[in-house]
Amino acid sequence: MTFHAIAIDGPAASGKSTLAKTLAERLGLVMVNSGAMYRAVTWKILREEIDPSDTESVIRLLDEMDIQCGHVGSLSTIRINGTDPTPFLREPEINANVSTVSAIPQVRDRLVALQRDYLKLTHVVMEGRDIGSVVFPNTPFKIYIDADPSVRDGRRSGDGEIDSVSQRDAADRSRKTAPLVVADGATKLDTSALTISGVVDAAIGILGQQGFPLPKQAPLLPNEEPPTPMRWIYWLGWMSFGAAYRTLFGLRIIGDENLIKAGPVLIASNHQSFLDPPLIGNLYKTEMVYFARKSLFTGIGKWLYPQWNAIPIDQEKPDTSSMKAAIRHLKEGWRVLIFPEGQRTLDGEICEAAPGIGMIAAKAGVPIQPVRIFGADKALPRGSGKISMARITVIVGPPILLSPEEFKAYSNKEGYLALTERIMTAIKAL
Ligand code: CDP
Repeated sequence: MTFHAIAIDGPAASGKSTLAKTLAERLGLVMVNSGAMYRAVTWKILREEIDPSDTESVIRLLDEMDIQCGHVGSLSTIRINGTDPTPFLREPEINANVSTVSAIPQVRDRLVALQRDYLKLTHVVMEGRDIGSVVFPNTPFKIYIDADPSVRDGRRSGDGEIDSVSQRDAADRSRKTAPLVVADGATKLDTSALTISGVVDAAIGILGQQGFPLPKQAPLLPNEEPPTPMRWIYWLGWMSFGAAYRTLFGLRIIGDENLIKAGPVLIASNHQSFLDPPLIGNLYKTEMVYFARKSLFTGIGKWLYPQWNAIPIDQEKPDTSSMKAAIRHLKEGWRVLIFPEGQRTLDGEICEAAPGIGMIAAKAGVPIQPVRIFGADKALPRGSGKISMARITVIVGPPILLSPEEFKAYSNKEGYLALTERIMTAIKAL
């Protein structure tokens, strides 16, 4: 599987981060702020009271640093020797020293390798100075953004930051290794006179021209949920479970901004307890479709579960009729929840997935939303029937948005397995 990289380069305060973050949200990519990586290394150097211009000492310290890069939702994360330096990265001392540190070739080599590692896992939009020229020179998706120096200076001081933008630019442009340049094939975008949404619209236009597979069904504003009212019986369950989750389990939702609220979505979640389906249902304000064990459709369940849009599933054997029902509902525009593991976990760990989810995803061709539940196994452990007041957290991951060609490539037995694997990796990464 190859992932796409969008490279956004430009001088300080040109609007790279805002653009990259918005593109990540709208297109379902991970946004990587490479400048934060150079800032994090600079933070560590200053914290250890090493002079950033003492290159030898910097390199020695660099060799001892454990740099861990990852992402939560659509945003990149960084830890140095286990500490997250994010709160300190925009301090004046870092602004004043980061260009000195980032000019050291050994620092660049180490960070460029980590930046490239992201592309092994996910689609990325990465912003920096050398992303289109050095980190991903072969990507066709490159934008160089700029703005008048006076506009850029104004943006930084408007943010209350002490930062000599022009000095940093001069240093970044004139250094020997990977200077700030307009990369081959990059399209220039001047943001001096544009609003944020103007910049985003222009960038999406450029990406379209560069051949980026803009997902047709990807909602441009994924947080808009169409106001279709719930039927009273669905609402009753939705409201009662939601209130119980908040009061009993202090329900916490992380990554809500990743949630696709409009159009068909295949939600793929780990499965911990009976609490899970309404837990996911409570992420939305409109109805959705679930699956429930066939054996529950007796007595009052025979009437109630269909009212809650539950489709019976036979867990004893691969149930092709329920898979077909899932695909049909997705094609009709529903959001459908699937637990790829099929069964609830016994020990809180994620179990092996059955390949059914890959097949459903490949055949339905809709956005896939990975979700991970924590704590529901403690709140209502499998087999115990006893509720305890454990905290439940739900993490919503960035959606997996595939182009029609990619869906096609997954449309065979091996493809179903590969797509299942990809979905499970995305859930486990949360
Ligand atoms: O946010 P701003 O544009 O001010 O800067 P940043 O993206 O946080 O980057 C801070 C500094 O890191 C830059 O001034 C460069 O010296 C360095 N940097 C780099 O050398 N290469 C990159 N790909 C990204 C940042």
